[in-house]
Amino acid sequence: MGSFDMTGRHVAITGASSGFGHHFAGLLASKGAKVSLGARRVDKLETRVAEIHAAGGEAAAIPLDVRQRASVTAFMDQAEATFGGIDVLINNAGVEAGAKTYMMIDEADWDFVIETNLKGAWLTSKAYTERVVAGKRPGGNIIMISSITDSRTIKGQFPYAVSKGGLTRMTEVMALEAARYNIRVNALAPGYVLTDVSRVLLESERSAEFVKGIPMRRYGEFEDLDGPLLLLASDASSYMTGSVVVVDGGHICASL
Ligand SMILES: NC(=O)c1ccc[n+]([C@@H]2O[C@H](COP(=O)([O-])OP(=O)(O)OC[C@H]3O[C@@H](n4cnc5c(N)ncnc54)[C@H](OP(=O)(O)O)[C@@H]3O)[C@@H](O)[C@H]2O)c1
Repeated sequence: MGSFDMTGRHVAITGASSGFGHHFAGLLASKGAKVSLGARRVDKLETRVAEIHAAGGEAAAIPLDVRQRASVTAFMDQAEATFGGIDVLINNAGVEAGAKTYMMIDEADWDFVIETNLKGAWLTSKAYTERVVAGKRPGGNIIMISSITDSRTIKGQFPYAVSKGGLTRMTEVMALEAARYNIRVNALAPGYVLTDVSRVLLESERSAEFVKGIPMRRYGEFEDLDGPLLLLASDASSYMTGSVVVVDGGHICASL
């Protein structure tokens, strides 16, 4: 069995200033990884890095806007200068456009969500792959943070759900194309966990009814993702690529 050990591994996380990315940074650092945290709100990254340092971990706060290629390049340059080549890239940065249907969004909503959730993941993955190849590194590991909206439909999460459907397909196509570089590409598809992205739905009056559609009758907690994330980030998943790991309390199996 491959090891779950993360000691000395360099993990770069996009969108680490809040929510899942913020949580994953602490988790991975506590398991011995060196963590590069990227996002636009650098003050929040710095606070998180200070917490990780205080707990004895290694981490760096680096400005990042995943929609801008120059920013992605600068992020990776700084991450590599600090901790060396990146072993694992976690494409976690994501936004939504509010509780809107396709008739309610405008072009700005579409561009904002698609550019962050899809273009951003492609830009970072491409830059990462170029570095693995140019550095003649033996391989790499990319994890996409998708969502169960990639496979089940819901009203009023357009274009978020469209972007996540695309992200899962990106995972599969990239896995196929990146295998020649020995880069694995997998996705984690969480169900609903209370964060700034999901607040609009989970704190709405629909919430009580919505949660009844989850077989386990509760929303997820950050810690529910720890095991699956460590599986994908470590050698324990060394023969996994192109997989989508669903962590949702059975939500996508809900009764019709
Ligand atoms: N919460 C859920 O129920 C749920 C379920 C399934 C999947 N997800 C996915 O989980 C991921 C994390 O979301 P979350 O729920 O943890 O929400 P969150 O707390 O709002 O986190 C989103 C993160 O993305 C970053 N971000 C946004 N735009 C960015 C950009 N252009 N460049 C770099 N970073 C950017 C934000 O940082 P800055 O604003 O500082 O840039 C923030 O750190 C998303 O991909 C989301 O779709 C969430």
